[in-house]
Amino acid sequence: MKSALIHNFCQTWPNRASFRQRRIAKRPAAVHYLFIFSCALHSHKHLARMHPPDIDPRGGPDMPPVLSGTHLQILSVLATEIALMETPPTPFRILDIGCGDGLLIDYLGHALPILFPNLEVEIHGFDVSDHGVQPQGYFAATIAHLEQSLPGADWPARLKLISEREAWPYEDGFFAAAVSNQVLEHVHDHDLFFAQNARVLACGGVAVHVFPSRHTLIEPHLRIPFAHRFRDAHGMRRMIRLWSSLNRGKFREHKRKNPRLTPDEFAAAHADFLIRYTNFRFQTAYLDAAKAHRLHGTFKYTAAYFVEKLRLMRGGAPRYRVEGAGGVRHGLVSWLGRYVASVTLVLTRTDRYDRYNREMSGDE
Ligand SMILES: C[S@@+](CC[C@H](N)C(=O)[O-])C[C@H]1O[C@@H](n2cnc3c(N)ncnc32)[C@H](O)[C@@H]1O
Repeated sequence: MKSALIHNFCQTWPNRASFRQRRIAKRPAAVHYLFIFSCALHSHKHLARMHPPDIDPRGGPDMPPVLSGTHLQILSVLATEIALMETPPTPFRILDIGCGDGLLIDYLGHALPILFPNLEVEIHGFDVSDHGVQPQGYFAATIAHLEQSLPGADWPARLKLISEREAWPYEDGFFAAAVSNQVLEHVHDHDLFFAQNARVLACGGVAVHVFPSRHTLIEPHLRIPFAHRFRDAHGMRRMIRLWSSLNRGKFREHKRKNPRLTPDEFAAAHADFLIRYTNFRFQTAYLDAAKAHRLHGTFKYTAAYFVEKLRLMRGGAPRYRVEGAGGVRHGLVSWLGRYVASVTLVLTRTDRYDRYNREMSGDE
């Protein structure tokens, strides 16, 4: 049966192809030009939407300084996605998940009103109290920093501290966007994380997560190759000790602070850190976890981080729109980039298929 199907397919395929070729060959030249013209018109409309005339994608001289490449990446991807939204909701609520010291909120809070002067941006954030990555009492400093840097908002109400095991303290569909920087590699329960992310995102909303995945060759906290890839705790500890005894990676910095530190001590403490406080996964695991909660996931923006970094290194001014994402060149850079640095996961919540069905059945 199977071989008959394959035989049938092989028999019919060339015929179908040549049939199509003949039809194309017969098509008058005017139809081709009409086709090319309509494509050009369509892409022009698309670009016009991406760059509405009143918005300068370079933001102008008042833009806040770029202190972090990942913050710039989150801003550019978010701005690109907002520009693609037909009518961004107002107020445009953004959630910073695992907001830490609040520097990303600070950056977005200054940059977005410049890029989108007609958008009423309202940023919220939360972090978890029982994770162990952050020092005790850091959240009070986060609130104090934002009260000073972005006055006028009720930061004690907008910033929340919760347990990593509990549901996020917001109504369903409360946010038009969500962001996170260097958080997903610390999350233990991805199912809970993506379930909550899907729940608090409004339909048509977007989430931008920048983080190192398991693909990365060098563990970013310790700057030691493959340390995060070990499942065996003994192997992990040996790898950290070996690298530290060569005076490489983070050990060098710690040794400067404490000259009596031994590679063995460092390895024991940091193997414990990697096992208890990190949870690196491959890209497909994040996509699967997102899909389980009906989110569309893509890593197509990962390349933009490298493209922009290269531009900045060459002395170029930052751009706040991503161009070329989804193309072959970006695809290749994204694929390679995941081995080198953070990846960018973009999630969207949409009801396109339901709307399509309603339109087809004439309900709208
Ligand atoms: C490396 S810090 C990054 C902090 C901040 N986003 C930044 O860019 O500076 C990782 C943060 O993720 C938070 N975190 C860990 N697990 C989390 C979870 N399940 N949900 C939300 N945040 C989490 C930690 O408390 C910590 O603040």
